[in-house]
Amino acid sequence: MTENRENWGTKVGLILAMAGNAIGLGNFWRFPYQVAKNGGGAFMLPYFAALLIIGIPLMYVEWMQGRYGGKYGHGTTGAMIYLESRGKLGHSSAAIIGAIAGMLTFSVTVLVNAYYTQIIGWTLGYSYMSLTGGYMNAAKSTGEIFVSYIQNPAMSITFWVISLGLLAFALSRGIQKGIEAWAKVMMPVLYVFGFILIIRALTLGSPVNPDWSPIKGLDYLWSPKWSELKWESALAAAGQIFFTLSVGMGIVSNYASYLKPDDDIVLSATSMIFLNEFAEVILGGTIAIPIAFTFLGPEGINSGVGLSFIALPNVFRMMPAGQIFGGLWFLVLFFAGFTSAIAMYNYLIAILEEDLNVPRKVGALVIFGLYILVGLPSALEPIVTKTAELAFLTELDNWVGSYFLVVVGLIEALVAGWLFGEKNALEEINRGSYWKVSSGLFNLMIKFLTPLSIAILLIFSTKSYIQNGYLKWVPSFVEGMPELLPWVQGARMLMLVILVMGFAEAYYAIQKKYGSAQTQKGAKI
Ligand code: ALA
Repeated sequence: MTENRENWGTKVGLILAMAGNAIGLGNFWRFPYQVAKNGGGAFMLPYFAALLIIGIPLMYVEWMQGRYGGKYGHGTTGAMIYLESRGKLGHSSAAIIGAIAGMLTFSVTVLVNAYYTQIIGWTLGYSYMSLTGGYMNAAKSTGEIFVSYIQNPAMSITFWVISLGLLAFALSRGIQKGIEAWAKVMMPVLYVFGFILIIRALTLGSPVNPDWSPIKGLDYLWSPKWSELKWESALAAAGQIFFTLSVGMGIVSNYASYLKPDDDIVLSATSMIFLNEFAEVILGGTIAIPIAFTFLGPEGINSGVGLSFIALPNVFRMMPAGQIFGGLWFLVLFFAGFTSAIAMYNYLIAILEEDLNVPRKVGALVIFGLYILVGLPSALEPIVTKTAELAFLTELDNWVGSYFLVVVGLIEALVAGWLFGEKNALEEINRGSYWKVSSGLFNLMIKFLTPLSIAILLIFSTKSYIQNGYLKWVPSFVEGMPELLPWVQGARMLMLVILVMGFAEAYYAIQKKYGSAQTQKGAKI
């Protein structure tokens, strides 16, 4: 059964779109401060272990389940998990598991993208401010400028809506003319800007302090501080792998659903991983840290999430031609974020198109409205509370952007390994593939090592969430700030509503298409 649906136009376009899907704010904004916070070079040990044991196997699984689902006309996780499970479990149980997976990926693509697009808006706003000298005035600290940016709706909301509008426009044009065409421009430009910034970063010398130079910054970053390597670092590393590769979000398999039945999977997925890791470890690791270290010393690196928006603008103020390099840096962030947000946005359009027969152009507008509605509280919080704590965003990010992805990953590995099974999965992964996955590797990884590691990750994450007070009525990050509690509770209520909607939608879609011809348990698929 092959449904009529759009395909990728070219191999290069597919790889660039997939790389754009993975390369995002995670690579340039999140990765450098995760490494700095978690023992420098010592972080890279659990990082690469998580890449090998969890990231790469899950990536193959997601490409496989996506191409398989696409054959039946589905670009969404719920239906894909259902189709893989129904032979072993029968219709009813498979529909429930499918609906749970669909619910979680729905929540990621709605809620994460609602704040992700806002951060993209900041990067666009900061590109504009860099080029026009908006933060160059030294009378105000760059921290104050950032706070006044997010508290000023004329900036924060305007640039967010512009970013969403561009996404809606690109997506209304479809897979080839929209996603693929934009990725073919944005990804090469991102790499070129990235290289220019690396060269600039590495040739800065020591303009402020003889002990502060780009190489010393790299050394500071990459020398393993083994004493700082703790369980939390391993969790952070695995979490980073999920986020940076976009696994567990539903969006890799959504893109893979537009593959043709015999398109290569193994080599293409490997190229995508390589491009992402290059952008993360080489570009992400070699731009921000050396620049910040050269001008601000160790303090600059340790500014956590403020590295991109607070520490670096401070540097661009001091650097010759800082406005231009600042502009390039924020445009790199913007292109990276844009090509990931487009994937989350497309996932929701696919739901409307496939399950509710809404035409793509209308769907793009509906989802634009949805993001405005759902994202408005996090945009308004700093304006209303006059703080910069971003409690609404933090609550959503802790659960939807960090925890739910891992649960989806576990479901996907178990379903592929144990329900879809070795024979079906390998047939699907290897058909048309230049490199083949062997049965031994599949059994070792997808059946055992990958799900086991994810399960351990979930157990320790849950423990650390409890210890950090994330499950309490007043979570630790708003303790002593009662004015922020309504924002946290609002985020929790919204999460609940979106989860219920996600479950209902995925269940409805499965029932609508497969409810009448219920597959019996044990049926051949
Ligand atoms: N993978 C995307 C990122 O790294 C979501 O930002």
